[in-house]
Amino acid sequence: MSVVEETASAKAAEGVPADFEPNILAFACHWCTYSGADLAGLNRMNYPANVRLLRVPCSGRVNPQFVLAALNKGVDGVLVCGCHPGDCHYFSGNYYAKRRLMAFKRMLEYVGLPPERFQVRWISGSEAGKFRDTVISVCKQIKEIGPYHPSGGDA
Ligand code: FES
Repeated sequence: MSVVEETASAKAAEGVPADFEPNILAFACHWCTYSGADLAGLNRMNYPANVRLLRVPCSGRVNPQFVLAALNKGVDGVLVCGCHPGDCHYFSGNYYAKRRLMAFKRMLEYVGLPPERFQVRWISGSEAGKFRDTVISVCKQIKEIGPYHPSGGDA
C-alpha cells in the first residue's frame, strides 16, 4: 500500500473524506497581514488556495459573531491575523482583539469546537514567509480534523 493510499484509508477510517479540501476564511489586517500576503504573492511563494482573505482595517474589528457566521455558512476554519502586539496602527486594536478573541476561543473549545478551527496569529507586512507557513499549517490541521458540521460532530 502506498503512502497516499495509507493516508486516504486512515482518513476514511476517521470519517474524513480522502479528497476533502477545507474552506478557510482569514480575516487579515489591512496594515500588516494583508501586506504580508501581498508580499508572499509578489515573491511567488506557494500556499494552499483553500484560504480566502477578508481584509479588515484592524484585527480589533473582528467581532466574534463574524467567526460564528462564517462557520455556520460552511467555512471549515477561521483565521484572524493582525499586527504584532505593540504595532497596531490604532495603538490598542490588537490588544483588544487578543483579549476578546482568546476568551471567545476558550468558549468555543469549552462547547466542543476543536482549537484548530479558530486561530489567531500576528503577522507583519514583512513576514511573507510566516504568512505562507501559517496558511500551510492551518490548512494541514483543518484537513486532518475534517469538514465542519455545525449541527453535529464538533460544537
Ligand atoms: Fe493591524 Fe490593528 S492595525 S491589528
